[in-house]
Amino acid sequence: MVGSFEVEQYSLSKLRQFHERFLSYSNKIVKGHCKLWVSESISALVVIGLFLSFLLATVCTYFYVFPRYQPAAVRTYRVHESSNSVGKCNVFEGKWIPDESYPLYNASQCPFAEPGFNCLANGRRDRGYQKWRWKPKNCDIPKFNVQEILGKLRGKRIVFVGDSLSRTQWESMICLLVTGVEDKRNVYEINGNKITKRIRFLGVWFSSFNIRVDFYRSVFLVQPGPAPRRAPKRVKSTVRLDKLDDISKEWIDSDFLIFNSGHWWTPTKLFDMGCYFQSGGSLKLGMGITSAFRSSLKTWAAWVETSINRNRTRWSKP
Ligand SMILES: *[C@@H]1O[C@H](CO)[C@@H](O)[C@H](O)[C@H]1NC(C)=O
Ligand SMILES: *[C@@H]1O[C@H](CO)[C@@H](O)[C@H](O)[C@H]1NC(C)=O
Repeated sequence: MVGSFEVEQYSLSKLRQFHERFLSYSNKIVKGHCKLWVSESISALVVIGLFLSFLLATVCTYFYVFPRYQPAAVRTYRVHESSNSVGKCNVFEGKWIPDESYPLYNASQCPFAEPGFNCLANGRRDRGYQKWRWKPKNCDIPKFNVQEILGKLRGKRIVFVGDSLSRTQWESMICLLVTGVEDKRNVYEINGNKITKRIRFLGVWFSSFNIRVDFYRSVFLVQPGPAPRRAPKRVKSTVRLDKLDDISKEWIDSDFLIFNSGHWWTPTKLFDMGCYFQSGGSLKLGMGITSAFRSSLKTWAAWVETSINRNRTRWSKP
């Protein structure tokens, strides 16, 4: 128990470092270039979306093509067993560098790119923001080769779980893969659904490659619920910290599971909306957001331990 908790802390802090560096970087870019066009908040979203897409594309394919570089979470289990050897390369440690050969796709030619996230189509003039690639400190990530990736993903199911950042990552993944499909009619949403903010499930099928790329909206990963009876009036709803989201059973049958959570763990999205934490039968009115988030991640980690077939599914930390 103590052991696995250390593992948790280790990779969480790595991810947090990475996340902070990433956010400060996108802030810089947003401040530098975006004031002239559209509104700043939209710019920020777009920039963050794009950065995440590049990140996702590179990291995802990287893990797949080079399985010896495991995702932080998986690798740290090994680290724990064999004490000091941290592995050859930590892909989470590095920086964004300019690369003229990017971008990897044109959003205007991708039917799965949300119009609101298509910077150029929305009037942005500069192009430099598309030309960044993630460079790990001690190694190189091979460039995305769509035919190779499509070949490797044949017959696989990739599942993205999380908030709107996951949705844009999902879109980017599809847009990247679509560039390698000749007849775009062979790629479609299985229920014919359009991409919308609140939709809980979207599944895109690459029929000629037998690849599924799915998105599940689960902003907390754990289960949202109604206010318990006899709760104080200000409590309008709860987040159940001890129970993973009900739709989690849909995630199990997958080859890659990519989680993300964090942007909804804020006072404005929780307390200001009358949403409080609950664990078991008890309402945790005084519980802070950080400890609630930590508690939800423990629930998530326990779920991964018990529900995921590690022989098949590779997964990323939220
Ligand atoms: C992207 O595609 C659109 C539509 O086909 C085209 O008008 C535009 O020039 C392309 N942009 C770039 C940068 O190639
Ligand atoms: C996973 O693989 C190991 C070693 O090949 C095997 O012993 C184990 O039974 C497998 N577990 C499952 C759930 O398939």
